[in-house]
This record gives sequence, C-alpha cells and structure tokens, in this order.
Amino acid sequence: MLHEQKVVVIGGSSGIGLESAKEVIARGAEVIIASRSEEKLQHALEQLGPRATAHVLDTTQEKQVQEFFAQVGTFDHLIVTAAETTGGAFLQTETAQARQLFENKFWGQYYAAKYGAPHLSPNGTITLFSGVVAYKSMVGSSALGAVNAAVSNLGQTLALELSPIRVNVVSPGIIDTPSRSKMPEDTRQQFYATVGNKLPVKRVGTAQDVALSVLYLLQNSFVTGTVLHVEGGHILV
Ligand SMILES: NC(=O)c1ccc[n+]([C@@H]2O[C@H](COP(=O)([O-])OP(=O)(O)OC[C@H]3O[C@@H](n4cnc5c(N)ncnc54)[C@H](OP(=O)(O)O)[C@@H]3O)[C@@H](O)[C@H]2O)c1
Repeated sequence: MLHEQKVVVIGGSSGIGLESAKEVIARGAEVIIASRSEEKLQHALEQLGPRATAHVLDTTQEKQVQEFFAQVGTFDHLIVTAAETTGGAFLQTETAQARQLFENKFWGQYYAAKYGAPHLSPNGTITLFSGVVAYKSMVGSSALGAVNAAVSNLGQTLALELSPIRVNVVSPGIIDTPSRSKMPEDTRQQFYATVGNKLPVKRVGTAQDVALSVLYLLQNSFVTGTVLHVEGGHILV
C-alpha cells in the first residue's frame, strides 16, 4: 500500500519520526525527512539508507515551510513529529517559554499542514502530534497540555476542511526517545520505571510503538479526524 509512495516526515531525524520513516521505508515508500540540525539529519540518513533524502527546515519559519513544500512537489503522506517541548510550574515559568512552545509545536504543525496540504495527493494523509498531557492534566504541563489540545482540535477540523485528504492526530504517552536525553541516564531510567509500573501495560512506550500507530493511520482509508491515544493506558490511572 505504501509501495513507491512519497512520504514527508518533518521531525524525521529523531525518535518517533525517525522510527516512522524506517517503518514506511520497510514497506517500499520513499521518504523525505526534515528538521533543523544538519548533523542529526545526516545521522538519520545513515540509518535510513538510499530511499531517504533530507532537508534542513525550521517549522517555526513560515516562509521556509512554504518553500520546502514547493521544492518537495506532489507527495502522498505528511507526518509531523517536529517539536521541542518544555515544562515547568505555571507561576514560575516565563511567559516567553510558554509562547515558544506554541511557536514550535502548534504553529510549526499549523504551517506544515497549511503549506503541505496543497501538494498532497487526494488520497493522501496528514498525521499531526498531540500528547497525553492534553488528556491527563499533569503538574508542570499547563502550556504543553494547552498546545497539545490545540493540535488535536486543529487536526479534527482539518479532517473536515481538507477532505478527501485524511487528517489524524497521534497522542503519545511517555515514550523513550532522545527528547528526554537531557535527563541524566540513571534519573531517566528511574523515571521510566516509576511511570511504567503505574501503567496497565507495566512499561513506558518505545518509538516503534508509536510508529506502528502512524502506519495504521496511513494505511486505513476509513480513519480520519481521530485522535489515536498510544499511551499504555496512562489516561486511566
Ligand atoms: N517522547 C514522548 O514521551 C512524547 C510524549 C508525548 C508527545 N510526544 C510528541 O511526539 C512527537 C515526537 O516526539 P519525539 O519524542 O520523537 O521527539 P524527538 O526525538 O525529540 O524528535 C523531535 C524531532 O523534531 C525536530 N524538531 C524540533 N523542533 C523543530 C523545528 N522547529 N523544526 C523542524 N524540526 C524540529 C528535531 O530535530 P532538530 O533538532 O534537528 O530540529 C527532532 O528530529 C512530538 O510532537 C512530541 O511532543 C512525545
């Protein structure tokens, strides 16, 4: 189904985006990955092989996003995992930091959908990324929760407006990806063990867990306007 399809993964140089790129390539697709760091892109290309190409792109720069899609031309699927997220206690967090979160994770995805959609084939898809803190309030996640909720809502409305292109949103829970690499290794493992033990599935997620849900959304032509929760039952506990 994905054989010889052209898939754009913005955020494809790391974590869930990189794993999604691997999964679609394994099914015969051609992939364009994009993110800000040339070094990360090169490292990802070494893992993805000859069916992948890379573009340096910062999704917070509207004009850059527009030019990027003009260069890409017609394609079949858009996956946007690009995000740099932060947290912090509401009263102690600088407003600028909260605005930056919206700038990066909300407006980045908004621009990608806006300028990517006109180049998508009619039976194409857009997959955006929200996150569990939109659905389970957590201390320190006021701005990120709001950003994620905004992305989910955007995706659902776009499923109506961009039809017949299918638009879906993935909402991951706690996933072991390089996004948490700033945490010291032992603290990170302790965090994963503590969170994992509380979840019905008894572990945190992997990038591949989420990539498999992306594959499902690309391939199931009866699914649009959904928010797919891939979080090991986190909302329930
Ligand atoms: N991991 C989790 O536990 C978790 C939980 C809930 C939701 N999510 C969501 O899932 C998605 C993927 O997360 P992940 O864990 O895979 O993160 P990740 O490993 O940090 O990957 C994020 C990617 O986004 C790129 N990026 C960041 N800002 C960008 C920008 N302005 N323009 C272009 N590219 C940008 C980064 O590359 P460059 O640095 O090269 O730009 C990187 O390739 C995100 O939306 C995240 O919020 C993750």
